[in-house]
Amino acid sequence: MPTSPRRTLIITGASRGIGRAIAEEFARRGHRVVATARDPRSLADLDVSQRLALDVTDDASVTAAFAAAGDVDIVIVNPAEIFYAAVEAIPLTELQRLFNLNTVGALRVAQAVLPQMRARGEGKFRRQIQQPDSATTANLLSLSCTSSFIWSGTSIYTPWHVRYVPNWNTPYMR
Ligand SMILES: NC(=O)c1ccc[n+]([C@@H]2O[C@H](COP(=O)([O-])OP(=O)(O)OC[C@H]3O[C@@H](n4cnc5c(N)ncnc54)[C@H](OP(=O)(O)O)[C@@H]3O)[C@@H](O)[C@H]2O)c1
Repeated sequence: MPTSPRRTLIITGASRGIGRAIAEEFARRGHRVVATARDPRSLADLDVSQRLALDVTDDASVTAAFAAAGDVDIVIVNPAEIFYAAVEAIPLTELQRLFNLNTVGALRVAQAVLPQMRARGEGKFRRQIQQPDSATTANLLSLSCTSSFIWSGTSIYTPWHVRYVPNWNTPYMR
């Protein structure tokens, strides 16, 4: 039995790490979980409602996955990479690659799902973000973190019915 009303979640980057753990936990709680990964074979052992291919850097892949998933209540975007370097040392090609994955990739997912959420007047969008845990990592991770922090600004300045979820302390996430 779900511990809260049964919701449909779609999780990007569910092949391993935090995304896989979230998929397992929400399925255990009785929610409809749509797990996605670049290679859906990596999801074969996940006991979820649906397993789909989704690469956040690829328009066609994102569109196809959301068409197959149907209406979703909660979207969790996991894919992100970090690059340890001071601001003046990060190669710009690497920074462009990070922004393409961490920023534009998450935005591509948002653009695929927000229209249906706005039409229904509800929904939750969570972009996992990395945060430095010390002054040293802050120095080396500042640009990597910036590539995800766009969502903090977006949530503050966009008057959505659809809410960006900054943390797990919300009824949908319990
Ligand atoms: N680990 C931590 O301590 C921590 C702390 C705070 C925040 N976070 C954030 O939480 C998120 C997940 O972290 P994690 O440690 O679980 O990461 P992870 O183990 O590296 O997993 C990342 C996931 O993203 C997928 N992925 C990578 N590129 C993708 C793409 N182009 N399209 C779709 N999926 C893609 C990977 O799948 P494949 O490579 O199998 O395709 C994998 O499933 C990240 O945003 C991270 O910044 C992590």
